[in-house]
Amino acid sequence: MRTSPYETIWYNASLATMTPGGAPYGTIRDGAIAARDGRIAWVGARAELPDAPERLAERAIDAGGGWITPGLVDPHTHLVFGGDRVADFERRVAGESYVAAAAGGSGILHTVSMTRTADEATLLRDALRRVRTMIAHGTTTLEIKSGYGLDVETEMRLLRVARRIGSELGISVRTTYLGAHVVPPEYAQRRDEYLALICDVVLPRVAAEGLADAVDVFCDAIAFSPAETARVLEAAQRLGLAVKVHADQIADTGAAAVAARFHALSADHLERTGDEGVRLLAEAGTVAVLLPGAYHYLRETVKPPVDALRAHGVPIALATDCNPGTSPVLTLPTAMNLGCVLFGLSPEEALAAVTRNAARALGLNDRGELRAGARCDLALWNAASPAELSYWLGGSPCAGTVIAGRPLSS
Ligand code: NIG
Ligand code: FE
Repeated sequence: MRTSPYETIWYNASLATMTPGGAPYGTIRDGAIAARDGRIAWVGARAELPDAPERLAERAIDAGGGWITPGLVDPHTHLVFGGDRVADFERRVAGESYVAAAAGGSGILHTVSMTRTADEATLLRDALRRVRTMIAHGTTTLEIKSGYGLDVETEMRLLRVARRIGSELGISVRTTYLGAHVVPPEYAQRRDEYLALICDVVLPRVAAEGLADAVDVFCDAIAFSPAETARVLEAAQRLGLAVKVHADQIADTGAAAVAARFHALSADHLERTGDEGVRLLAEAGTVAVLLPGAYHYLRETVKPPVDALRAHGVPIALATDCNPGTSPVLTLPTAMNLGCVLFGLSPEEALAAVTRNAARALGLNDRGELRAGARCDLALWNAASPAELSYWLGGSPCAGTVIAGRPLSS
């Protein structure tokens, strides 16, 4: 029989609740958070607790005077893959372009061939290692895309591995089918047949087996056109799946407008999106997911239209884009730092971008803020201010994470 009203209370911490409209970061000084049944049951100033923490909860945890934020949400990763792209990296730092690598059959297609020959156990083992690092730096929810298999069986294998990561580590994983990443070599002269395979064969199977929460298309100069993208998004929506788009990274092909037309959850990259694209995203309520890791690794010089996104009120999220080719970035504090330094986000915008706005980019309205009723996903930080999360590079002051009220040590 339960005698305490709460299972756990964290106290002796400042809270960055990220609830908009009040103090910067939604700050509550000397705060406390109480959890019950995996949810936040109470949050506020410690002085307003009706009794001492240890009398109110089965377990009272002294957070050591640091900061507590919502658990971080990574809304865009490709972290299940075979092999690596270190040779691509060596060529690129010597001057080769990403587009030249793609045309020469390395790039994404190299990872496709390495992934097709990797078994499920190997893919899982390597991906778990990456995700453990992410969790140690504050991530409690993440999205994982397929897209390095392209054939039916390998795509299904990648999505199964992604689901298993969630169950093995107790972390929330949202899966996305990205069969429309590039056209695989066996369909090189038959793009239309590949699109038919995606729409008529793979998508229905993925939906029937519950393997994907959403569908993504790489709509860009080296991948799929807006018309091809629309065909895949239509098929996805007919099956009741949410959609998102890799948009305007290499060229402005009108991808943001397609994302908006389908009311995509998010449009991601956006380096070359023009003002009209931004206006359409705002109208559609689509979140802009910016990926500064890819910008950094590709030595991009064209930045996403941050001022226009702000001016039109498009919510900005950040993600690691963890992938072997363009963004071998593992931690969200790294993406926050790059988002501030390279794109000019403020540290407060960067934290909103990996909490409230990232949750929205995944269609999750039960997390991303510290408020009663939300999932009790927390990140604890040995930091003097929440801006410090964006300050360090190559490490972070994360002191632990909590998933659905359950502390994980880091
Ligand atoms: O998000 N843009 C397309 N997809 C990945 C890159 C994948 C790769 O190069 O392996 C991205 O950057
Ligand atoms: Fe990506």
